[in-house]
Amino acid sequence: MGLVALSDCIRGALSYEAIRYPPILIYYANVIGIPVFMKFEVITIFPDIFSGFLSESLISKAIAKRLISVRTHYLRKWTTDRHRTVDGKAYGGGPGLVMKVEPILKAVNALRNTKPKSLKSKIRVILFSPRGKQMDQVMVKRWAKYNQLVFICGRYEGVDERVADYIADEVVSVGPYVLNGGEVAAMAAIEAVARLVPGFMHDAGSQTKEDHPQYTKPEVFTLGKKKLRVPKILLSGDHAKIKDWRDKHRR
Ligand code: ADE
Repeated sequence: MGLVALSDCIRGALSYEAIRYPPILIYYANVIGIPVFMKFEVITIFPDIFSGFLSESLISKAIAKRLISVRTHYLRKWTTDRHRTVDGKAYGGGPGLVMKVEPILKAVNALRNTKPKSLKSKIRVILFSPRGKQMDQVMVKRWAKYNQLVFICGRYEGVDERVADYIADEVVSVGPYVLNGGEVAAMAAIEAVARLVPGFMHDAGSQTKEDHPQYTKPEVFTLGKKKLRVPKILLSGDHAKIKDWRDKHRR
């Protein structure tokens, strides 16, 4: 067994125990540097976007099982003016508004300072922006090693560049297209990282599902004049051949 597989094994075992004995195991996990749960902190001006996402399916189960926690933080809370301003006009002119640096810095600092002193929490601060590095599974696996991920969701025409330069540890784009803001990107990241938290996929099977073609009943599906058949090999019961076929068609 390779080192990675061994560490995955320990992480898995720890997380199941952590459901029953969180304080002891969390302490132990911190001593040996293996996180047993993941805290997501999302800084946003639209926290309600997350409510359906957090209350359904495996994400809500993982929250109930205390494998993950997801907290949304309303950015306007860290403003001081009467209008709770989080944006301003761009220097140099141009249409649209830019998100201000001060409230974001205050929010991030507040989150950095809330970790319990007894825990050596490993935090990563990520700014979502279409100008960032494109998110991929390698990045997601790296994030899964932290205890706490702070996601800053940009809006409007962008975010003051000093956030990218001095506050965020990384700037990430969910894909080569422009969204209205970072909230959808943050949800994609939460789901991708949460799937790697030991225990998350317990009810759902493998963490790598859907990397090869899958079929279920009916064996023959009629579409107009066409008969769409399940590949014969999958009906053969020959597990070695099925494995070969799946490996060949893996993406
Ligand atoms: N905000 C707007 N577009 C985005 C993208 N593609 N990725 C991350 N955040 C964004």
